[in-house]
Amino acid sequence: MILKSTLHFTSPSSESTQSVGEAIGQFATEGDVICLYGDLGAGKTTLTQGLARGLGCDSRVTSPTFTLVQEHAGRMRLYHLDCYRLDGPEDLEPLGADDWLGREGICVIEWPERVLAALPSDRLDVALDDTSPCREIEIRGIGPRGRQLARSVGKKLGLNLQEEIPR
Ligand SMILES: Nc1ncnc2c1ncn2[C@@H]1O[C@H](COP(=O)(O)OP(=O)(O)OP(=O)(O)O)[C@@H](O)[C@H]1O
Ligand SMILES: [Mg+2]
Repeated sequence: MILKSTLHFTSPSSESTQSVGEAIGQFATEGDVICLYGDLGAGKTTLTQGLARGLGCDSRVTSPTFTLVQEHAGRMRLYHLDCYRLDGPEDLEPLGADDWLGREGICVIEWPERVLAALPSDRLDVALDDTSPCREIEIRGIGPRGRQLARSVGKKLGLNLQEEIPR
């Protein structure tokens, strides 16, 4: 059974959403996969800008909507993917994802729904809800490494961690 640990954060501003990303970037380690869910304009790229800062990347993070994947150099390499235009997991191969996804550097994926079958089950899922002016952000660590990352982020941001109790 795969255990999950969940955090909730209400973000009133872009800066606040970036601070969540920054905490994730600070605690991320080689091979981590971070999935960002949410509608167009929910704040996925905004969160990634903070994450890049937490990883020590100097380059500006913009939406990889057309380039599909953008690489940034930091404490580790950041692979920033936008899968909105992909039809399925098979479309990851031409991007060279086999070489780094879940292996090398940190991989941040916008619109992960398109490629879920290709993603490791041990990861961090971040869902941004923009139905109100604030963003409701749910951070869910799945599997041993995902939960460890969620715990570190929760501690840093002073958030309560909800552990899923196995039956
Ligand atoms: N609390 C908030 N958190 C994040 N972004 C916010 C917030 N409030 C307002 N915004 C604004 O919402 C927009 C979010 O855009 P962003 O490009 O990050 O969305 P996205 O989820 O990556 O969209 P897409 O699916 O098109 O890539 C930005 O213009 C940002 O300034
Ligand atoms: Mg985006």
